[in-house]
Order: sequence, then structure tokens, then C-alpha cells
Amino acid sequence: MAAARACLVALAVAAALFLEGTAAAGNAGAAPLKQRRRQLLRQRQVRSHLKRLNKAPLATIESPDGDLIDCVHISNQPAFDHPFLKNHTIQMRPAYHPEGLYDESKVASQQQTQTITQMWHQNGKCPEDTIPIRRTKKEDVLRASSVRRYGKKRHRSTPNPMSVDPDMLNESGHQHAIAYVEGDKYYGAKATINVWQPKIEQANEFSLSQLWILGGSFGQDLNSIEAGWQVSPDLYGDNNTRLFTYWTSDAYQATGCYNLLCSGFIQINNQIAMGASIFPISNYGGSQYDINILVWKDPKEGNWWLQFDG
Ligand SMILES: *[C@@H]1O[C@H](CO)[C@@H](O)[C@H](O)[C@H]1NC(C)=O
Ligand SMILES: *[C@@H]1O[C@H](CO)[C@@H](O)[C@H](O)[C@H]1NC(C)=O
Ligand SMILES: *[C@@H]1O[C@H](CO)[C@@H](O)[C@H](O)[C@H]1NC(C)=O
Repeated sequence: MAAARACLVALAVAAALFLEGTAAAGNAGAAPLKQRRRQLLRQRQVRSHLKRLNKAPLATIESPDGDLIDCVHISNQPAFDHPFLKNHTIQMRPAYHPEGLYDESKVASQQQTQTITQMWHQNGKCPEDTIPIRRTKKEDVLRASSVRRYGKKRHRSTPNPMSVDPDMLNESGHQHAIAYVEGDKYYGAKATINVWQPKIEQANEFSLSQLWILGGSFGQDLNSIEAGWQVSPDLYGDNNTRLFTYWTSDAYQATGCYNLLCSGFIQINNQIAMGASIFPISNYGGSQYDINILVWKDPKEGNWWLQFDG
């Protein structure tokens, strides 16, 4: 019997998404002394941000792509920095799983020989009771427009994907191809996404394929859960295809982030690192690789779960 598949349940999101405490940046000032002070302040901010994000690992695995994957004790992950999650008991299995999907995955795991892997798997595994976290480097934070914005989308640049206005579909050079449903009560969605590595032509470009679950309204109280793959040199410093998640509970303003780059997302799986490179990827006329993403809400506990497998 195929019991648990390799990467079955990857992550759980706490029922309520939480407001983050963020520090205000310094004042603007033109004088050289002020500038120097600002530089020092930024350096200090970067250092303390890195200290907050990068938890003491029990082991570290160096990926061929240059990433450092820290195996951090599950109870020491960034989610638990949030005061609302201080006493949280980690739920290791969902109390509810959408009907039929477990069966389907058992059948699939017997037929399918290829499983999705991440590049760092070539050099090791994280022990039980830890979760793999992609270590944030100083350069990662320095590429962001500010320390505060690192790991977050610019909310003004997030257009409504359901808009049929042709201008919106090309907002700030973004081009979208989407399929969507709306209007009913939805408790989840599933997608199988073919994994590619689109060419990036300039530094601030990005490319992605994702599942996106939305509630509320754009510009106001939008709640969003996103997951898929992305190529984003801005965020990761290279052109690799990486697994990602994103969430916000206030229309991309104060809350939310990619992966585990803020508190909110609780991970339980010890094999998948959010933000790490997916490997192998599909090539034209050759082997094809997919990822399966399932997001659902446990109607009793109110938690949203994310399952990822290949
Ligand atoms: C966590 O537990 C401690 C001890 O029981 C309690 O004093 C504290 O208020 C709790 N914190 C939260 C956020 O529930
Ligand atoms: C979409 O954006 C690109 C890049 O900014 C631009 O070259 C193109 O003309 C735009 N297309 C439409 C239909 O507006
Ligand atoms: C990403 O791709 C661009 C364009 O192909 C290239 O100029 C750049 O050097 C690549 N970046 C990395 C880190 O490989």
C-alpha cells in the first residue's frame, strides 16, 4: 500500500492571517551626514532582519544552485515569531481532507515513477522534526527596494486578474493568461502545473504559473492564497524556477509575503523548501514535469491547508 506520498502535506496556513509589526523607515534627508546615518541604519536593519528570518539550524544543506537550506526545528520556524501564534500547537495532519483526493494520489503514486524534487535534494535531507528553509542572504535583502518590502509584492502593481479590461491585463507590462471561476462559495482548488524555466530578458522581469484563491475586494480587504512556480531574479538572485507561496489578508498592503519570509504560514513537511529551485524542469520536445497544488479549507477548524506533490 502506498501510505503517505513523498511530499504529501507541505504546509498549513493559520486560520486568520495576521498583521505584521513593521518598523518605520527613517526620514528623508539630503546632507552627507544624514546619508551616512541612513546607510548605517539600513545596514543595521538588514542585519536584524536577517537575524529574525534565519533561525538557528540543526543542519544545513548546500544546494548546487548556491542556496543554503537550513533544517530548522519545526517549533522554531518564523510563523511562531508572531505573538498570536506563541502558544500554537502544531497540527501534523489535517483534520479534514477533500474527499477522493487521497485515493486519487494513491493510484497516481503507483503509476507514476517520477516525483518532483528540488535541486538541494541532491546534497541531503532534513531530519525529522525539522523543516527546510531557504536561508536569506544579505544580497537578497539588498535587492529589495527597502528592508521592509523584502519578500513582499508591491501592492499597487498587483492587478485584478479577473478584470477583462485589456489595459489591466497588460498593467505595467504584465501579461496574463488566466482561467477562473467566481461567484460561489469555494473551499479550495487544485491545479496541475507544467514546470518550465522561461527566459528572463531584464533584471526586474519575472514569470510565473500559479493557483490563486481570492476573497474580498481589490484595493480593500482582499484575502489571497497563491502557490505555484516562479522565475524571479529580483527575489532570488538567479533565473531558476522556484516553488513559491504568497498570502495577504489586506490587499497586499501591510500583511503577507512570499514563502516563509514573514510570520503566518506554518510548515510541517521536512522535504520541501519554499522558494527553493524545482528540479528537473520540462524541456521542449523532451521530458515533462508537473507539480500538483491543492489548497483547501478545513471547514471545522477553519485552517487553510496547502498540499504540494509531483
Ligand atoms: C500563552 O501561554 C501563556 C502561559 O499559559 C499565557 O500566559 C499567555 O497569555 C499565552 N499567550 C497567548 C498569546 O495565548
Ligand atoms: C503591453 O506591454 C508591453 C510592454 O510594456 C508593450 O510593449 C505592449 O505594447 C503592450 N500591449 C498592449 C496591448 O497594450
Ligand atoms: C538571467 O538571465 C539573463 C538573461 O538571459 C542573464 O543576463 C543573467 O545573467 C541571468 N542571471 C543569472 C544569475 O544567471
